[in-house]
Amino acid sequence: MSTSTAKNALQQLRPVLELLADGEVHSGESLGTALGVSRAAVWKQLQKLEPFGLALESVKGRGYRLAGGLNLLQRGTIEGALAPAAQRLLGELVLCDQVDSTNAQVLGMLERGAGHGVAMFAEQQTAGRGRRGRSWVSPFSGGINLSIGWQFAGGVQLLEGLSLAVGVALARALASFDVPDVRLKWPNDVWCRGRKLAGVLLELSGDLTDRCAVVVGIGLNVGLPQSSAAAIDQPWIDLNTVRPGIDRNLLAAAMLNELLPLLESYPARGFAAYRDEWQALDQFAGQQVRLHSVQHEWCGVASGVDDSGALILNVDGDRRVFHGGEVSLRGVE
Ligand code: BTN
Repeated sequence: MSTSTAKNALQQLRPVLELLADGEVHSGESLGTALGVSRAAVWKQLQKLEPFGLALESVKGRGYRLAGGLNLLQRGTIEGALAPAAQRLLGELVLCDQVDSTNAQVLGMLERGAGHGVAMFAEQQTAGRGRRGRSWVSPFSGGINLSIGWQFAGGVQLLEGLSLAVGVALARALASFDVPDVRLKWPNDVWCRGRKLAGVLLELSGDLTDRCAVVVGIGLNVGLPQSSAAAIDQPWIDLNTVRPGIDRNLLAAAMLNELLPLLESYPARGFAAYRDEWQALDQFAGQQVRLHSVQHEWCGVASGVDDSGALILNVDGDRRVFHGGEVSLRGVE
């Protein structure tokens, strides 16, 4: 199915998804009545759910249900949970059922001179982007896929360390729901119990020496179906495993409540304002780690980050400093 066909199909399926979202059994007849269509038309719609990875169960003699239900993103609930600062800073809230990549969409807006303060969430991405050219697995309703567009007056150097500060903001949002064992892995992953819970991808546009814009992209695993797991090439975990029952809408709002004020104040405050909090959550503090670039590998003891967010590594007694774009980090077993 091409992306645009899939998008249209999902738009048509939204009403039936909203009815099935409660996870209860619905008869074909009751669905037909609620949707104002025949039972045959209901059946056709239900058959279209499978390609989106939505597991519909047929309950003999009673009807259909989506096992576990769906916690769909709802504008009213998100907006209702926004703090005054976030309400003021939010330019536009965009909720999509399916897009290629929320980062690509918001980047496109910024390049057209719009997009400042836009927060775009998607239930599903067909071409979600990860760091270092990876793809980001985003099955329907399985996580939070968020991109925020922000314009800055001033060069890109003002954004040094921003991706680490975003990690701190995410950790704060998760702490407000008592999610246990949240840690940060340099440069910009959120980990939980030794596995990746969320990732951050910043993409820049504009004149990097003057007015520039950034897209802050965040992917957070909430409830990933096993069918999606095979496509993920690193150890991962989802929120449902560690703290089930968190409403995605309330979490989405909590993320905006942290992230929008962070973006507004970051050029003035910089990473130094977040450094202590980052270090208190550092997954690898004091541990032996291995850093890779395309050509090199370094082994040493992770010794926190400096005021710019660069990693400090103690390599055989020498203090070495590494910046995020160059390298990736692994723990040593
Ligand atoms: C990483 O590799 O750890 C970063 C993953 C970032 C994924 C998010 S999902 C929302 C936004 N849109 C994208 O295409 N990517 C980011």
